[in-house]
Amino acid sequence: MLKGSARAHTNIALIKYWGKANEDLIIPMNNSLSLTLDAFYTETTVTFSEELTTDIFYLDDTLQDEKGTKKISRFLDLVRKKAACPLFAEVNSYNHVPTAAGLASSSSGLAALAAACNQALQLDLSDRDLSRLARRGSGSACRSIFPGFVEWQKGNSDETSFAEVVPSSGWENELAMLFILINDQEKDISSRDGMRKTVETSAFYDGWLQTTTQDLASAKIAIHAQDFEKLGTVTENNALKMHGTTLAAVPPFTYWSPDSLKAMNAVRKIRAAGLPCYFTMDAGPNVKVLCQRKDVAQLKEKLTHYFADEQLITAFSGPGITYL
Ligand code: PMV
Repeated sequence: MLKGSARAHTNIALIKYWGKANEDLIIPMNNSLSLTLDAFYTETTVTFSEELTTDIFYLDDTLQDEKGTKKISRFLDLVRKKAACPLFAEVNSYNHVPTAAGLASSSSGLAALAAACNQALQLDLSDRDLSRLARRGSGSACRSIFPGFVEWQKGNSDETSFAEVVPSSGWENELAMLFILINDQEKDISSRDGMRKTVETSAFYDGWLQTTTQDLASAKIAIHAQDFEKLGTVTENNALKMHGTTLAAVPPFTYWSPDSLKAMNAVRKIRAAGLPCYFTMDAGPNVKVLCQRKDVAQLKEKLTHYFADEQLITAFSGPGITYL
């Protein structure tokens, strides 16, 4: 019996990954930049055993059906090949995050699984190689290996596509991200399908791709200069561009709900009234608001004029992978 356990935190992209250059290897079309967060995480234990005749996956103590186990099994196949280990595995995951609602549970989930496998099979992977492995499970997971600000270098092969820390002199500890939970139901269009549809059909996709390099450069300059307004502006703008691509897909779709628009509008109003804050969104209706740590209480109070207290969750910069 070979056993490993790890915890990984979610990350939210400020400059988004949106579109794959290679679907099989999960090589992205553009570099992305994220903040790893403390509030949401996944803890996973994996046990490879001679006694199993198939892979088994429990999520929050609930046995998952074939469909729910497929992605995990596909990832385990990669690991088995790497370790030359023929054994099936039981995976136990606890998600301290609402699953599949655009709260990036796939980033923490697959990062925790990759690390648990690394420990169980004594692969002894460096953080970079662990990031490459996590990437194969879910693209955004490669960023959850690291703490704070993280850049995913798209590369052009399995070897060259990995995440790494963006040096920041600890500035991330002065920032916060407030989540406005609009809906914790499963999303209609997965990020995988959404990306594929926009890459293949959206007339706006080229515009997205042409500007992400500049956006990422601006974000890194802002981090270096500790310029919150600059980082917030490029974050919000980049998210709007990503979501713009979905409107021009054929057929068109959107991750926004009426309450997402309400949240974006609230953020704009609060900002216009003098409190610096900027929104971002992923493949779901929830809205995340980037602000400075010193402003969290005030921002939260202002947002309660629009949303219920229990819809608002505060997160700060979080750690990378932890072995348990
Ligand atoms: O790696 P995935 O399938 O979780 O895709 C993530 C896509 C976005 O959340 C929309 C953007 C990002 O960079 O995290």
